[in-house]
Amino acid sequence: MERVIIFDTTLRDGEQSPGASMNAAEKLRLASQLEKLGVDVLEAGFPAASEGDFNAVSQIAQKMKRMRVAGLARTGKEDIDRAWGAIQRAKFPRIHTFIATSDIHMEYKLNMSREDVLKTTVDAVTYAKTLTEDVEFSAEDGSRSDRDFLCKVFEAAIAAGATTVNLPDTVGYAIPDEFAELIKYVRQHTPNIDQAILSVHCHNDLGLATANTLAAVTAGARQVEVTINGIGERAGNTSLEEVVMALHTRPDFIPFETGANPALIHPTSRLVTMITGMIVQPNKAIVGANAFAHEAGIHQDGMLKNPMTYEIMRPETVGLNRSELVLGKHSGRHALRDRLSTLGYDLADDELKTVFEAFKELADKKKNVVDDDLEAIVAEGVLRTTEVFRLEYLHIVSGTTVMPMASVRLSINDRIVTGAGYGNGPIDAAFNTIAKLTDTQSELLRFTVSALTGGTDALGEVTVRLQENGLVALGKGSDPDIINASAKAYINGLNRLEYLKVNPVNQQVI
Ligand code: KIV
Ligand code: ZN
Repeated sequence: MERVIIFDTTLRDGEQSPGASMNAAEKLRLASQLEKLGVDVLEAGFPAASEGDFNAVSQIAQKMKRMRVAGLARTGKEDIDRAWGAIQRAKFPRIHTFIATSDIHMEYKLNMSREDVLKTTVDAVTYAKTLTEDVEFSAEDGSRSDRDFLCKVFEAAIAAGATTVNLPDTVGYAIPDEFAELIKYVRQHTPNIDQAILSVHCHNDLGLATANTLAAVTAGARQVEVTINGIGERAGNTSLEEVVMALHTRPDFIPFETGANPALIHPTSRLVTMITGMIVQPNKAIVGANAFAHEAGIHQDGMLKNPMTYEIMRPETVGLNRSELVLGKHSGRHALRDRLSTLGYDLADDELKTVFEAFKELADKKKNVVDDDLEAIVAEGVLRTTEVFRLEYLHIVSGTTVMPMASVRLSINDRIVTGAGYGNGPIDAAFNTIAKLTDTQSELLRFTVSALTGGTDALGEVTVRLQENGLVALGKGSDPDIINASAKAYINGLNRLEYLKVNPVNQQVI
């Protein structure tokens, strides 16, 4: 079977989802997981966007052993130099440069003529080619561009040295048949198209990103640009898991293979959720909580007789083999390491020590520690690296006859501060006090509480969405005590806002 190249842009376009910013350590961890998953090309970020992005891309570039590492750049020399600066130590570096080719973008956004854009494309690709062999060129808003102009730009980019040309459906406007037609047109009318890989990059504004991507593959595209859980700008990007599993499940109809290992899809999806705080909708294909749940009696009956009656994929195929009862307070470090590894977390010794201590503490309070609990502990203790603010202590006085009051001790850049405050309820009191101590003015846009497992001893998981000066960040926290979980989530959100203040997410630049 022919191979389709998986180009993952979770760390770049995915990070452009409002609130989904990640710090360098989180990006590095996710990059390693994506390499394990079998991604071919990783778009690690947009180095010109901020110092933080540059550093993250450069760390990822140095660490990846097998994947190509791409850095995004506009067509200016400074952007390209910045991208190259960040990826040059990668084993397989790629510069990905782009400019818009649709009339509407050229007129209103770029204020450039077609000739200007054509020349800029050639200059950018020619310059990038002096730095590295592997150059990708993207025609932003390609699906809404004049077809012949698009072909002309691709032809010029390939002649200047582009090894991949990418056709984005930037605004998620395309319809599958139409998009397949466009791919065929480009292949027929770009004379040197055989000298480059034709790639597609779809957005999901009409819910058609995966359908458009698959239609494009059928029509001749050989690289697909995707993100885990489909996160990305607005309604998101094509989701990696949907494309990989569609190709895996229907080789009779779309006979292409990828290098992705389906068994790592679920662990990777959960890692993205835990790092970004972006919860996957329950009915999301492949990775939603209900994707393999059978509720109707007739379905359950059929499933018992033969799973294939209602299941086109086995949950184990995508790495969904969660056991209900996992560990108890007598379980040792070895069992914990084993279970975490099955869940996709290969932790360093010091990380395992942190998780083991938290696990023992939880196992003392809760009889059965299940996978969800373990993941929450990993997220809390390892994945969400605390930066500026850390909760040291929280004491709440609340009840039917007292005004709720919180006493809080925080460490702010390792300096200890303590204070107390009131609120309408215990969580309000905790948040007010934390805001006062951290001298922050964020607005709470959303507050969600859920129980990770059944039972009154379940870990409560809280997600908050905070906004300050136009910046939006998500925060997550878990604890058997809902008020502690809320305070942790709030502080996690504040830390993310702090990170964003110095590392603006690339959406402000593109
Ligand atoms: O959607 C888009 O057009 C992009 C390009 C930068 C490839 O993300
Ligand atoms: Zn995009």
